Amino acid sequence: KKDGYDTFMLKEIHEQPHVIAETLRGRINHNHIILDELKDIDFSQFNKIYLVACGTAYHASMCGAHILKKVLDIPVLSEVASEFRYDDPFVDEKTLAIFVSQSGETADTLAALRLAKEKKATTIAIANVLGSTISRDSDYVLYTCAGPEIAVASTKAYTTQLVLLILLAYYIAQQLGKDINKQIIQQLMSIPQHVDTILKDENLFAQYAKMLENQHDAYFIGRNLDYASVLEGALKLKEVSYVHADAYVAGELKHGPIALIENDSVVIAVATQPHIAQKTISNIQETMARGARVILLTTQNMEVKNVQNVYELPDIDPTLQTILVAVPLQLIAYYTACIKGCDVDKPRNLAKSVTVE
Ligand code: F6R
Repeated sequence: KKDGYDTFMLKEIHEQPHVIAETLRGRINHNHIILDELKDIDFSQFNKIYLVACGTAYHASMCGAHILKKVLDIPVLSEVASEFRYDDPFVDEKTLAIFVSQSGETADTLAALRLAKEKKATTIAIANVLGSTISRDSDYVLYTCAGPEIAVASTKAYTTQLVLLILLAYYIAQQLGKDINKQIIQQLMSIPQHVDTILKDENLFAQYAKMLENQHDAYFIGRNLDYASVLEGALKLKEVSYVHADAYVAGELKHGPIALIENDSVVIAVATQPHIAQKTISNIQETMARGARVILLTTQNMEVKNVQNVYELPDIDPTLQTILVAVPLQLIAYYTACIKGCDVDKPRNLAKSVTVE
C-alpha cells in the first residue's frame, strides 16, 4: 500500500508531481483557464472574498487570499473557521466565500460554511473527498485530485489546494475580462516537473533535518506570501517531530522574537518574493550575528551573501513559489521526525478528520 515507501507521509510527498498534474489536467487550454463548474457565477457581483479553513488548509487559504487580492484588486480576507464562525463576519450577498478542506468534513469549516450561506454569500468548496459534506453543502465545488491522503499530516492535499486556488484567482480575472499573466498560466504546467527536481534533493533536506535533532525550538521567518509558507512549514515540523516551531513575519523579529535567538538556535527562512527577499535575508543575518544556524530557501536569481545552507528553488513566477517551497519544508519536517523516531503517519493527539468542534 505504501508503494515501497517507509511511510504514507513520504509516499504522499513523492506523489505530488503526479497529483498536481492531475489537478491541472483539462484546466488550461491555450492560456485559457477552464473551471466549468463555476461557469454560472457572475463574478462582477462580488465586492469581497473570504477564504475560510482550518490548519494546513488555512495556510493554503492565506496564500490564496494573497494571490486573489493581487490579481483581482478587491478586498480578500482569509480566516480560521473556528474564529470566523464566532466573529460576526462581514458577509452579505456581495460576498464570495471559499471553504478549503481536504476531508470536506471538518466541523468548524462546515459550521462556517453554513453561517456564510445564512448570510447569503455565494459559496465555493475546495475539497479533496468526493461527496463530502462541505462539498455537498456548498453552492459550487472544485475538487483537488490528490487521491486519498492517509498520513495525518497533510502534504499533497496542501499543494493541490494551492494549485486550485491559483487557477481560481486567474479564472475569476479571466471571467471579469482582466488581462491575465499568460506566463504564469504556462508556468503552472511546469510545476510537476519542478517539484520532481526538488524531490531529487531529498538527501540534502535530510541533512538539514539533522540540525534540528537536538533542538527544542525552531524559528521560521518569511514575509508576505512567504509568511504563509513558513506558517505551514512550522505546523508540519511541530506536528510530526514535536519540535516546538513558531513562524514569524520576518519584520516582527526585532519587535520581540529575536530575544529568543541564542547560540545554536535554528532559523529557517523563506525568501522567494523578489521585492522583499533582501529584507528577510538581512533579518537572517541578524540572527546569525547572535549565533543562530540558518537554512534559507530562496530562488536561483536571488543574490545571497554570507548565509549558510542556502537552497535555491527554480526560477519561476513568485506567485507560484509557494507551491515549490512547500516540498523542502515537508521533507525537513519528515526527516526530523524520522531522526527522532516519531510515528510520522500518526502523530500523537491528532486525528485525520476533525469532525467535532
Ligand atoms: C495538518 C493537518 C490539519 C488539517 C486541518 C483541516 O497537517 O492536516 O491541520 O489541515 O485539520 O482539515 P481539512 O482540510 O480536512 O478540513
